[in-house]
Amino acid sequence: MQIQPQALVDAARAAAQNALAPYSKFRVGAALLAADGGVVTGFNIEIASYGLTLCAERAAMVHALCRGHRKFDALALCAGVAGNPATPCGACRQFLAEFCAPETPVFYSALPEGSPILQTTLGELLPNGFAM
Ligand code: THU
Repeated sequence: MQIQPQALVDAARAAAQNALAPYSKFRVGAALLAADGGVVTGFNIEIASYGLTLCAERAAMVHALCRGHRKFDALALCAGVAGNPATPCGACRQFLAEFCAPETPVFYSALPEGSPILQTTLGELLPNGFAM
């Protein structure tokens, strides 16, 4: 599947606009490119019991799995201020690694439109992750 980083990041940025982040006000959007070309998004969902917050990446993955997707070619994440784009938290790295190969590209960009897109892989983000 042809990967278009800008389009995937744009989808993540649009998803961040729908974030439910009344407590932290920190909006995060994620977009997964499925092997069939479909793009499935997610955003962070906070509740009053803060620790039960759902990150955007896990929301996107659950959304995609429930839609029947099982193979993924790329992830995009959009969050953070200019010059300090967020990368997936540790829990999300482990969760994503269950369903994505280590060489899966991860594109990330700060929230303001036009922010540069940086690139890494899931394997770089989670070396030696837990596996059974
Ligand atoms: N958050 C994500 O959505 N993804 C991450 O990888 C890290 C953090 C969210 C959780 C919370 O709603 C807000 O960012 C601040 O931590």
